[in-house]
Amino acid sequence: MSKNVLVVVYSYTGTSLGAARLMCSQHNWTLASIEETAPRSGAWGSWRCLLDSFLHRRPPIRYDGPPPSDFDTVVLVSPIWALRLAGPMRSFVTLERARLPHVAVVSVMGGRGGPNAAAEIADILGRAPIMTTAVTAREVEDGSCAARLQAFGTAVQSAQDSRAVVRPTLLSTEAL
Ligand SMILES: Cc1cc2nc3c(=O)[nH]c(=O)nc-3n(C[C@H](O)[C@H](O)[C@H](O)COP(=O)(O)O)c2cc1C
Repeated sequence: MSKNVLVVVYSYTGTSLGAARLMCSQHNWTLASIEETAPRSGAWGSWRCLLDSFLHRRPPIRYDGPPPSDFDTVVLVSPIWALRLAGPMRSFVTLERARLPHVAVVSVMGGRGGPNAAAEIADILGRAPIMTTAVTAREVEDGSCAARLQAFGTAVQSAQDSRAVVRPTLLSTEAL
């Protein structure tokens, strides 16, 4: 049952990857990652992050994972850059828009911008994520987000399981 959730992460400095790995280990979910075809580093790399956000750019990416459409729910984990969704995750959501099933969003940030990223994903998809949350880099690094991420994951899992249970009842004539 838990195979039906795929976690897709983009991480520049490793913090979002830590959060994604934690959720996968808590729920036995599959992890897949987004890499940039032109990796960034140093001061110019950080400038590119900012420019991506200011200009709403979609940098070229490589996706290393199973087709998202094979899963019932995809959890997107990504950093915030300049109060917006990190560019490579913007690229992924745009490219995979038609193949993405139900989506949940986890933003990893210094402290501000999580709701903007969730709103941007909703805008690209033309539908709202089933659940969204944000954690700070500090909470990931010191482990204090573990209980919250576990509860979030449990809610995502139950939302998915309840869809499987409720649908036949709603369609049954006996329920009328
Ligand atoms: C260029 C750049 C811009 C950032 N802008 C923000 C921001 O606007 N708000 C915020 O809360 N954190 C911001 N951060 C912090 C990152 O979101 C945070 O460190 C995150 O944990 C990085 O995730 P990663 O290690 O997976 O790349 C920024 C980081 C970088 C490199």
